[in-house]
Amino acid sequence: MEPRGPDLVAVAAAETPTAGRYAAALVPIGGMVEEGGTMHMDPAELRRVFGMFATGVTIVTARDPEGGYVGMTVNSFTSVSLDPPLVLWCLDRAAWSLPAFVGSGAYAVNVLAAGQEELSNRFARRGEDKFAGLEVTEGHGGAPLLPGCLAHLQCRLVDTHEAGDHLVLVGEVVEADAPGGEPLLFFGGRYGRLA
Ligand SMILES: Cc1cc2nc3c(=O)[nH]c(=O)nc-3n(C[C@H](O)[C@H](O)[C@H](O)COP(=O)(O)O)c2cc1C
Repeated sequence: MEPRGPDLVAVAAAETPTAGRYAAALVPIGGMVEEGGTMHMDPAELRRVFGMFATGVTIVTARDPEGGYVGMTVNSFTSVSLDPPLVLWCLDRAAWSLPAFVGSGAYAVNVLAAGQEELSNRFARRGEDKFAGLEVTEGHGGAPLLPGCLAHLQCRLVDTHEAGDHLVLVGEVVEADAPGGEPLLFFGGRYGRLA
């Protein structure tokens, strides 16, 4: 595999275990390398480009079949359909909480407000009790609803799609509320808020 173009930073998939994970039918732009008809891209560069899309920040939660809670910080959330009311988010296949999200059959999307950066960071780290000290209420399917959020969407898991190294989880919204406030934003790998 030979790099094409002066700005290529792509590395052969054989040299890095993660490069191959981005093989996909991507629009060919600078920074890509063709190998047997499949496009590859440097993961760090792709992550940087993806990060140019400003988003809000959510914490998606669920109650696992054993009764414990799982939750993780997510910015891949998007609304999909009004009728029926559908949303989706993308779950890394390597996430520890994947079996609980899939097994639960329900999840809650907690939309974070400005000032909830610490909560976002806490739920983006694995291996600790993410819910310690939080007073949650239970929503559909027992999914915990976090305090102080802009909005909550309680969902029934209706579909999953395999998509590369992620799983797309489509949910039907069964209940929603929006106390309101200012949003927490995420852009270029950093938090921000509305000016
Ligand atoms: C702002 C932000 C957005 C994130 N968005 C996602 C996402 O959409 N999907 C995902 O799988 N991980 C996302 N992550 C990473 C997870 O929050 C992180 O890997 C978490 O530790 C996974 O939890 P678990 O392995 O304990 O299940 C995001 C992290 C941050 C800081």
